[in-house]
Amino acid sequence: MKTEELKELFEKMTLSEKLGQLTQTTAEHFIKNEGDEADDDIEKELVETGPAFDELEEQKEALFTVGSVLGVSGAKVINRIQKNFLEQNRLKIPLLFMHDAIHGYRTVFPIPLAMAGSFDEETVKLAAKCTAKELRAVGIHVNFSPMNDLVRDARWGRVMESFGEDAVVSGRLGKAMIQGYQGSTDGTIGRNGVASCLKHFAAYGAAEGGRDYAAVDLSWKEFFGAYAKPYEIALEGKPRFVMSSFNSLNGEPATASRFLLTDVLRGRYGFDGIVISDWGAVAELKNHGVASDDRDAAKLALNAGVEIEMTSSSYLRFGKELAEKNRGLEKKINEAVWKVLCLKNALGLFENPYANEAEEEKVLLSQELLDAAKRAACESCVLLKNEKLLPIKKDCRTMILTGPYAKTKELLGNWSCRGSFDDTVSLEEGMKAVFPNARVEAYENFSECPKELLETADFVLVTLGEAWELSGEGHSSANLELPVKQQELIEAVRASGRDFAAVVFSGRPLALGSVDEKIPALMWCWYPGTCTGMAVAELLAGECSPSGKLAMSLPRVSGQAPLYYNEYRSGRPANESSYSSRYQDCGIGALYPFGHGLSYAKIIYSDAAVSSGTIRGGETVTFSVKVTNSSEYSVKETVLLYMNDPVSALVRPVKELLDFKRVSLKPHQSAEVIFEVSSEALKYLNNELKRVIEPGIVNLFLNSEEKPAAQIQYE
Ligand code: BGC
Repeated sequence: MKTEELKELFEKMTLSEKLGQLTQTTAEHFIKNEGDEADDDIEKELVETGPAFDELEEQKEALFTVGSVLGVSGAKVINRIQKNFLEQNRLKIPLLFMHDAIHGYRTVFPIPLAMAGSFDEETVKLAAKCTAKELRAVGIHVNFSPMNDLVRDARWGRVMESFGEDAVVSGRLGKAMIQGYQGSTDGTIGRNGVASCLKHFAAYGAAEGGRDYAAVDLSWKEFFGAYAKPYEIALEGKPRFVMSSFNSLNGEPATASRFLLTDVLRGRYGFDGIVISDWGAVAELKNHGVASDDRDAAKLALNAGVEIEMTSSSYLRFGKELAEKNRGLEKKINEAVWKVLCLKNALGLFENPYANEAEEEKVLLSQELLDAAKRAACESCVLLKNEKLLPIKKDCRTMILTGPYAKTKELLGNWSCRGSFDDTVSLEEGMKAVFPNARVEAYENFSECPKELLETADFVLVTLGEAWELSGEGHSSANLELPVKQQELIEAVRASGRDFAAVVFSGRPLALGSVDEKIPALMWCWYPGTCTGMAVAELLAGECSPSGKLAMSLPRVSGQAPLYYNEYRSGRPANESSYSSRYQDCGIGALYPFGHGLSYAKIIYSDAAVSSGTIRGGETVTFSVKVTNSSEYSVKETVLLYMNDPVSALVRPVKELLDFKRVSLKPHQSAEVIFEVSSEALKYLNNELKRVIEPGIVNLFLNSEEKPAAQIQYE
């Protein structure tokens, strides 16, 4: 539709119809009309009804003015809903369909926390591009992803949806994901692209005690310097939507915060897309105790800058009355509606509001997507330790897999959208495919493994972890230890006298402090998705070398949470002394810290150098290092460049990640990896929220090295 026509349409809209565009509900209203029996396909698709269901059912007329629905997918179902809706919508404005495809739709990619371990923007972008392709094929226009909440506390169930504990990693991968979904770098929606919704603004990941939905209280320095940074970076990817978060921040629920949603998000970060609330969050302003009723809640949210209300109906019920009293609010409503209409127009919905039913079959789970999912899975797993057991020898004839994840296909992780266990490759299946000449026997229960087989087997693999449904939204845990049964499994395998390797499947960092020493080789797989079995088997077999690194530190015991590498320096840094910053009943620091990850290859770093030993404001210095693959494997290596500032006016973190780069190296190949270090990147936020740095030395570090690779004098 031409802009002129769109404007004409806009002019025809009543205020109530405009408020409809700013309301999102679930789809059942548009299926269960009289005389319209829901069929099985549709029943299957219906999601839990939001709080607005009854309120909306009472106002049928308003119902057919809403602008978008969520949680329903499938070309046939969506077309049916769209058709029913359009028949009753006065101005024939099609619905937008929104969904949560957090790490894939039907082809499931590794959970975001796992993909973060690839430290690879291309991997993440490709995963998003593939997901968008499936989403468009099933009729979805907007994806509620990525989640750029910075997380330092493994107790929070939603850590699996995040890119981990570092702001730069989270922000850059979020930006790549947004561009992958949208299929562009400028906020336009490319062919086969969907609009991306960055969430949850802001600081949702800092929920007190790691308890979902709990309040967040942070200094503004910590908010802008750490928690808000991933959103700030990801916003460069130009998402069309931002979702406000459930939590309150420093006393103000994000949903009612004009400061966050208007001053910071739009004013400071320049966001010009659409702000949507989280599920029922406008109505929940009453529970926060800042609104006395729904009218009050609508007023607060509209004034704050929430443009679409998800699954509650206060805008529809009270928006008109509020706007009639306040011209400023009416202007806001008009601006928001115009953006919604422009998006519908950009997606071509006025010309063709329907999904192509013939496309769906061709696209879902196509080979191209499965290849991308396997690649992402291979790049996400992290080899934590390896006492010469891995890779498994090529001539392995008998292999035993044991433990709860040996046979299961439930390896998709939470928020796996329309992923199906039936499509998923189990570890047993993967091992059999990768070792076609070996006898592969899987026993979930180790006691069922015959003694003679155990004695003669060439390789024993123990599977450990936390069931997928124990992480994700609403799944915070106070306890991060392995279940007792799995600890007993490790003891039983050890008692048999057999060497073994272990793999861990989990949606969150678990505390393996009590068992780590008993495990000779350990690979952390998180939840790798549809291609789990193939990817993990190929890694264990050495068909490719592990290249993932931890995007989140693994604790020794639960009580260490929150745990992260870039903590502030202390007057008494942790050491063997009691009077240092440590726990008396556990070792110092993480069991495996952020950035840790081994490879089968020997990688040598040499010739680290800076282009200049001094830097001034506005300047950039180049840091370079030679990376050599001294092995027969083709490898991918992530180079992490950190800094610290030994003397500064305010306390700074012990170490801060400046940049990361990934290089591919053929056997015995070297590459020079170059980083541009700007004076701006070396600065920190002071209490006046200004970025500053004092003259003095700045140390640059590579990976986990304790000795600086170079120093720069800040003048
Ligand atoms: C979650 C969001 C999600 C929304 C819609 C909420 O409960 O917090 O992340 O996008 O539901 O499904």
